Amino acid sequence: QTAGKSAGLGTKLIVVSNRLPVTIQRDPNTGEFEFKMSSGGLVSALAGVKHELPFVWVGWTGAEMAPDMQSTLYSRLEVEYDCIPVFLTAEIADRYYNGFCNDVLWPLFHYITHPPANSEGEQKFDSKFWKAYRIANRCFASEIQRIYRRGDLVWVQDYHLMLLPQMLRKAIPDIQVGFFLHTPFPSSDVFRILPDHKEILRGVLDSDLIGFHTYDYASHFVSGCSRLLGLEGSHRGVKSAHHFANVGIFPIGIDPSSFIQALDSQAVKDRIQEVRKAYTGKRIILGVDRMDYIKGIPHKIKAFERLLARYPKYRASKVTLIQIGVPSRTEVEEYQKLVSITNELVGGINGKYGSVDYSPIVFINQSVKFDLLCALYYVADACVVTSIRDGMNLVSYEYVMCQLQNHGVLILSEFAGSARSLSGAMRVNPWNTDELCSAFNDALSLDKKERHIRHWKLYHYVTTHTAAFWAKSFVKEMISSCRDTLMNKSA
Ligand code: G6P
Repeated sequence: QTAGKSAGLGTKLIVVSNRLPVTIQRDPNTGEFEFKMSSGGLVSALAGVKHELPFVWVGWTGAEMAPDMQSTLYSRLEVEYDCIPVFLTAEIADRYYNGFCNDVLWPLFHYITHPPANSEGEQKFDSKFWKAYRIANRCFASEIQRIYRRGDLVWVQDYHLMLLPQMLRKAIPDIQVGFFLHTPFPSSDVFRILPDHKEILRGVLDSDLIGFHTYDYASHFVSGCSRLLGLEGSHRGVKSAHHFANVGIFPIGIDPSSFIQALDSQAVKDRIQEVRKAYTGKRIILGVDRMDYIKGIPHKIKAFERLLARYPKYRASKVTLIQIGVPSRTEVEEYQKLVSITNELVGGINGKYGSVDYSPIVFINQSVKFDLLCALYYVADACVVTSIRDGMNLVSYEYVMCQLQNHGVLILSEFAGSARSLSGAMRVNPWNTDELCSAFNDALSLDKKERHIRHWKLYHYVTTHTAAFWAKSFVKEMISSCRDTLMNKSA
């Protein structure tokens, strides 16, 4: 069932996220649009619900589209992909996405408070960004209002769209709407720094269900509502004048079968052979991150340098840190700085400890194909996640799924949401370089039996708390929250 076909009483799920699950490109020669379905976590999570509830996806196209192109694009996306595009001008998109979302909300939600002012005395909270955020959320709301039919469920994703539940509730008072935050929600002491914090809280509170990955994020949200808005909150949710917003904890997962199938494929087997050949005789420590300052990549590199400095046994071609840094948000200055810092650090260490045929650190500042990613996960003796804050971190799950045979060790920052659940990992504080360096050494020295026990615990969790389980649990809870709201209103 597509959005266009749904008429009368609706029973579809409308998933709303900043990005559509389809990347859109134009062939420069023919001018034709080319679409590529992405395989992100949310896409695979929702695949598990699709046969129970048809859904359409509403999201931004990712680039400005000329008005004459919009209708062609709209109908193709709707008919072929069940996707409803939201069009934003380049200026609004820049201020909303690069500005408010990624330079204001993102750092603050990850406990990175802004410097008091730059050399011109300006601070980050620019009212232009906030205005664009409201306008962009309004554009999303209009598209949803157009396709919504009574009985549909709307599921809003992430920090880009925190005003949307309120905008929708104002337009359609009996709308059934849920909201899920994929990032941490910070303590109210940090959140209140945001000049518009009250509007953001009120924006989300019109949801029937608000979901978080961990207990801490949920409890920060509830206490933020009490402290900053004076509302009554409990572990069940937050009560405002005319509405009760349920709050729940739904840790996301991955689709384990996609990794099992990939590892069974000839393409991945070939990649494994190639990587093994290239790194014969070396232990491999792997890092896979979006190139984001919250991932603690410099922290990881510094600790690896200490490993080489402290343990001569690892020098002379004995260990390699392969760090994949997938380019991300490249128009935001802080992200550009991170790339320079990383290149500089890697260059210094390779210069100091490398030789003509050996680089201790291999830094790949590109996205890698899925086949190669699985092969790297498979051959790595350890995988290191050093996030200084992270909503969940699914790299840790993916590594576990690719280690069914070798039982490699997962080194995991205590500041990643996944550290709450993955008790088989070696937990570290990425700020403690000595501790992280020792964890590298321990991971490479752990005996087979201990690795097996740790891996078994991890495997059990990852295969039971899957992406599909997450999506199903949220939708089920949203349906029951909406039913309660209706019953309370009619009582
Ligand atoms: C985080 C956010 C997602 C976002 C992803 C990639 O995981 O929670 O909402 O899609 O990063 O970031 P990008 O800015 O490229 O969409």
